Amino acid sequence: MCGIVGAVAQRNIVPVLVEGLRRLEYRGYDSCGVAVLSNGEPRRARSVERVADLDAQVRETHLSGMTGIAHTRWATHGAPVTDNAHPIFSRDTVALVHNGIIENYETLREMLKGKGYEFVSQTDTEVIAHLIHSMYRGDLFQTVRDAVRQLHGAYAIAVIHKDQPHTVVGARQGSPLVVGVGQGENFLASDALALAGSTDHFAFLEEGDVVEIGLDGVKIVDREGLPAEREVRVVTAYGGAVELGPYRHFMQKEIFEQPRAITDTIPQADHFDPALFGAGAGDVFAGIDSLLILACGTSYYSGLTAKYWLESIAKIPTQVEIASEYRYRESVPNPKALVVVISQSGETADTLAALKHAQSLGHKHTLAVCNVATSAMVRQTEFAFLTHAGTEIGVASTKAFTTQLVGLFVLAVTLAKMRGHVNAKQEAAYFGQLRHLPAALNSVLALEPQIIAWSEEFARKENALFLGRGLHYPIALEGALKLKEISYIHAEAYPAGELKHGPLALVTEAMPVVTVAPNDTLLEKLKSNMQEVRARGGELYVFADADTRIVSEDGIHVIRMPEHYGPLSPILHVVPLQLLAYHTACARGTDVDKPRNLAKSVTVE
Ligand code: F6R
Repeated sequence: MCGIVGAVAQRNIVPVLVEGLRRLEYRGYDSCGVAVLSNGEPRRARSVERVADLDAQVRETHLSGMTGIAHTRWATHGAPVTDNAHPIFSRDTVALVHNGIIENYETLREMLKGKGYEFVSQTDTEVIAHLIHSMYRGDLFQTVRDAVRQLHGAYAIAVIHKDQPHTVVGARQGSPLVVGVGQGENFLASDALALAGSTDHFAFLEEGDVVEIGLDGVKIVDREGLPAEREVRVVTAYGGAVELGPYRHFMQKEIFEQPRAITDTIPQADHFDPALFGAGAGDVFAGIDSLLILACGTSYYSGLTAKYWLESIAKIPTQVEIASEYRYRESVPNPKALVVVISQSGETADTLAALKHAQSLGHKHTLAVCNVATSAMVRQTEFAFLTHAGTEIGVASTKAFTTQLVGLFVLAVTLAKMRGHVNAKQEAAYFGQLRHLPAALNSVLALEPQIIAWSEEFARKENALFLGRGLHYPIALEGALKLKEISYIHAEAYPAGELKHGPLALVTEAMPVVTVAPNDTLLEKLKSNMQEVRARGGELYVFADADTRIVSEDGIHVIRMPEHYGPLSPILHVVPLQLLAYHTACARGTDVDKPRNLAKSVTVE
């Protein structure tokens, strides 16, 4: 989603700003821009193309300056046209970039129009630029502190003013912003990744903070306006993360990184211990009576999968809710429930708001399963389990999903052990399976050539159905989501037993039906559901465990998976579905890593 970079230095910072935008490109955007103070005047370049086009523009126009801000915009208010691209100017004096949504922008716009301000964009952002201009009395830091008090909604902003040549002021409320600390130069960004290569020292701003960065220092005040210190941490995990290597797309690279990502995520110790989730987790876990899982999209599907593990292995009641629904419905809080938020980015606005909503209802005990150690969610929760997937660039989540599943499986077995449902022998067996998982995944990845052959068929289709049962129903959901988001083929997933209650009406020879067929206790039921499809002429594409003895025949295409992998089987079965979506999208020529209309980190509601 939208990205911010800002810098103050004693060198031309345009290349740093543009490189920062390039590093944020994977999040999804539809326009971009950069503004600098050049000989005391704000100058800018904006593009509705890619960052490469912006780069060409700044080179052609020799745009340079030592103080500047830059932005990638994902349109919310106003179409992705140049006038709406950030930086937004106010009277050629103030330049501003903004992530988030200002909810009271209409009221502010009327007020500012009354003061003679002319609006040239359809954005909500323009009100902030004019508001700051109208309130400026010689101190940009103070002006921003006063101005943000009038804003309702979510924002991260970075602002420059022509009269303050070595200053960028930022503020955050509901959208992330970090300070990059350099030597004789300082930076701001919506994500530390943007500044990899410029600094590895970061201070993470808190909600309500306002910051001024200059050449030699950083000043921060908190939401009360009091001076605040934010710990400067060294974050080196981002180096090299944006290199594609021998792969065609980041998504492909990330699918093939899963054995490594899972190895890094499996706990070092060979036992399941509540301390893996943070100090004091043992006492808290001992007192909980249920789980409430909140997440969005793919992360929600990992929660759905975990529900099966938590209820069958740990025997603990588990509710899984879509964060954007939970945050707005009246629910019955249970202070003895452990609230678990699952998120790759840890910044997803809906999940973060759902977490805060749960806390406001009296939920005390919270855990984040998250891929970003410094994210808002990890900071907002009592406990955390960090997945070590590494930076995920492709918009479609792959390695983040499978590493989340590892974390949630560890949680389920830990709770099961604490509640006396797992003995030492079973614990060792579960650990053994986890440790063998990367090798098992490698054998699934080796199926790629067979999946490429199927993808050529799929690329000609406009619809597809995905079937799974039990623990593998969420995997079918995830397979359908992957296919629709990157190949734009309409796909739906059903628990196979539901087919005859409606969706069977869609099945004809033109409908491919992807079936996840592990050799578990529901296999015979699943085979009956497959017959229902065959009887209506539907073409079945089955990922079958080797020991299911399902064989290819007329209308039934089978790719043989390894033998059944027990409760961890969903982690293996999702991988061919990721590959099928990936190769189908490649065959259709879509922008695999940056599918249309989507953003990587959804930091607006
Ligand atoms: C789909 C996908 C999204 C995300 C969702 C939540 O491939 O990536 O559905 O899973 O936007 O994002 P996180 O996990 O960052 O909270």
